[in-house]
Amino acid sequence: MSALFEPFTLKDVTLRNRIAIPPMCQYMADDGMVNDWHLVHLASLARGGAGLVVVEATAVSPEGRITPGCAGIWSDAHAQAFVPAVKAIKAAGSVPGIQIAHAGRKASANRPWEGDDHIADGNPNGWDTIGPSPIAFGANLPKVPQEMTLEDIARVRQDFVDAARRAREAGFEWIELHFAHGYLGQSFFSEHSNQRTDAYGGSFENRSRFLLETLAAVREVWPENLPLTARFGVIEYDGRDEQTLTESIELARRFKDGGLDLLSVSVGFTIPDTHIPWGPAFMGPIAERVRRETGLPVTSAWGFGTPQLAHAAIESRQLDLVSVGRAHLADPHWPYFAAKELGVDRASWTLPAPYAHWLERYR
Ligand SMILES: Cc1cc2nc3c(=O)[nH]c(=O)nc-3n(C[C@H](O)[C@H](O)[C@H](O)COP(=O)(O)O)c2cc1C
Repeated sequence: MSALFEPFTLKDVTLRNRIAIPPMCQYMADDGMVNDWHLVHLASLARGGAGLVVVEATAVSPEGRITPGCAGIWSDAHAQAFVPAVKAIKAAGSVPGIQIAHAGRKASANRPWEGDDHIADGNPNGWDTIGPSPIAFGANLPKVPQEMTLEDIARVRQDFVDAARRAREAGFEWIELHFAHGYLGQSFFSEHSNQRTDAYGGSFENRSRFLLETLAAVREVWPENLPLTARFGVIEYDGRDEQTLTESIELARRFKDGGLDLLSVSVGFTIPDTHIPWGPAFMGPIAERVRRETGLPVTSAWGFGTPQLAHAAIESRQLDLVSVGRAHLADPHWPYFAAKELGVDRASWTLPAPYAHWLERYR
């Protein structure tokens, strides 16, 4: 039996295996409302056999979307639109998770295949962005955000709380706060994007404040028996890697003390000029360090999409869950073929019979 196919229990939730599908934006929502595209997409991923399916970055407010096509959960109607997908994920034996997000200064962008850049000023499809400080990301995202007032900070925190409550009402059993990838949470933590002189900027304590307060506020409404997780960029690859990692690990410890159940370890993406060592499973050793030094269960993504790499990350205890993204877009049945390749006992194969009966002989 491959360790990849052992169940994983966190709080009252048990995943059938260690394979997670990380959030992947579809850019197909209309005014934040998800639709049949998302239903078919998510249902087929769940049917393929992964233990956990995390829905794409879902904006807590309209201005928190990355693009006009991003999903949102800023009203009860938006939350209810997820119900068919939530039911389909559960019916397929997977656990439905959702990433709730605010894009901050990276919001108001064109879809990746339409430029991936900020929507031009004056174009009615775009909107004003906000961030901790009036500093643009740069490169393809040159728009300068409005510096958030204390009222703005309180409002966005409340938006996360309302989003979490709605996500639960829609049936989600796993929630991930998006504190990574240069979006709002990450940009509060990084000195590249946060040069505030009030209680939300400057020292480590102050740069951590927005993230910790948001976690604490969500903890109040998210059920104690269900996993409350976050995705966080622990390293920027900007030449100050050890310093950032040390601070990030300290923040992760405080997340744990604040009731976080698992951390999805990722990259900061707060500045365009970095030296990211792209390569298969490159985040593995970093995630393992976060796991070891904090005691938090972890997952990570970026290039774990071969059965051998995914198996090795779990077997060597680098990760508790392995997040496999693009390989699932290429083949939603990735877990099934991974199980076959790893020689896993038939009983653990999770593909429904109408597919499994035929695919067993196919490859
Ligand atoms: C189409 C697409 C959309 C993505 N959207 C999100 C997202 O909504 N939230 C997020 O945290 N990461 C997002 N990512 C990053 C993935 O979660 C994942 O980290 C990345 O694909 C690397 O993993 P992989 O090598 O297994 O694909 C996205 C990636 C892709 C390919």
